Amino acid sequence: MDKLLIEGGHRLQGEAEMSGAKNAALPILCAALLTREPLTLTNVPQLNDIGTMLKLLAQMGVAVQRDGSVVTLDASGLNNPLAPYEMVKTMRASILVLGPLVARCGEAKVSLPGGCAIGARPVDQHIKGLTAMGADIAVEHGYVVARTSRLRGARLFTDMVTVTGTENLMMAAVLAEGETVIENAAREPEVVDLANCLVSMGARISGAGSDVIRIQGVERLHGATHRIMPDRIETGTYLCAAAATGGEIRLTGTSAAYLDAVVDKLMDAGCDIRTEKSPSFEAIVLRAPQRLKAVSIRTAPYPAFPTDMQAQFMALNALAEGTSIIRETIFENRFMHAVELARLGADIRIDGNTAVVQGVAQLDGATVMATDLRASAGLIIAGLVARGETVIERIYHLDRGYERIEQKLTALGATVRRLS
Ligand code: UD1
Repeated sequence: MDKLLIEGGHRLQGEAEMSGAKNAALPILCAALLTREPLTLTNVPQLNDIGTMLKLLAQMGVAVQRDGSVVTLDASGLNNPLAPYEMVKTMRASILVLGPLVARCGEAKVSLPGGCAIGARPVDQHIKGLTAMGADIAVEHGYVVARTSRLRGARLFTDMVTVTGTENLMMAAVLAEGETVIENAAREPEVVDLANCLVSMGARISGAGSDVIRIQGVERLHGATHRIMPDRIETGTYLCAAAATGGEIRLTGTSAAYLDAVVDKLMDAGCDIRTEKSPSFEAIVLRAPQRLKAVSIRTAPYPAFPTDMQAQFMALNALAEGTSIIRETIFENRFMHAVELARLGADIRIDGNTAVVQGVAQLDGATVMATDLRASAGLIIAGLVARGETVIERIYHLDRGYERIEQKLTALGATVRRLS
């Protein structure tokens, strides 16, 4: 299994280009299931999760063409509305095929994703919404089996804000008969990107980006071309990496528009951040102080502080001046990186969903284990600053979500090597 070897102590400096957003690309790839005409996507990141989704769609009968960051999907030959366990277990986002399959084929059999390292993560809200739209759903032998003649528009209310739940229901509703209203909808920018793509395919959607989304069902959708939005979590991760090393970087191909909560906290920590903007171009420039100040955070649905940036901020706080409190309100078990950071010398106390981080002046390299995607990012940030060498094991998580991370970090002056 691959490992990452990092020699700490190098200040990040220079420019890096950010990739398209994994969490926007995954649902948008599934939107191709909704039409018989080709959907062409640009700025698709080259990641293992994207590869898994393309394989899943291909085995359903979707013709997939990929040329670098451009992917064309043609679902005219869709003939197997099945998502098998072997594929779903490696990527929870596979559940995103459920809504489109039921809407287009009137049937679907999708494996339950099961638990994952960061918590139980059930899909009951996806099922509740589709049932309210008239789908007949049973859970049999670990599979969600859904059937319907045609979905009907309905008023849907999710018990909690769920990102992929909102996306699944929105994709189902675009081909349903009549109007669907999703209340308590997720407001994440990736939901808006999906809505924009669906609208360019002929869907009638309003309110995406607010907590009430209205969808007027249409008979059919057509092909389109859509550019995937920039990855705000990748962007935030590189900003944190530069901040931790006292560096100065300029990130292109991205936008600060979706990063208010993260940028605010980095500025509170003492970083100087500005954006360069023209009608066709945007860049974010960060300059870090010698030592960061500790900043407390509380994760919550967008536009509040993203849970996907929590591990990276724990790494920053581990080295910052002062004490910080980190509250995780989205996932019940998302502090596994704390124990690994402690192996590098961090002083972190966990009590339920709260972590108290007492900043230390120095971390020391050690061997640590990545437990999930964003935990890996937090460990890399710590490794970039720790004295000596840090070895990060199980970095397959990283390859799920960060495109060419060693190359990007190396170009910024880090010393990072993959050990096979
Ligand atoms: C998405 C993101 C993930 C991010 C998360 C929260 C993708 C592919 N993944 O995951 O990176 O960390 O949003 O911002 O976009 N829940 C239920 N029942 C449901 C659905 C959700 O109880 O039917 C709970 C979950 O267990 C969790 C909370 O709701 O505690 C929010 O989860 P959700 O927003 O659904 O996360 P994902 O969409 O899976």
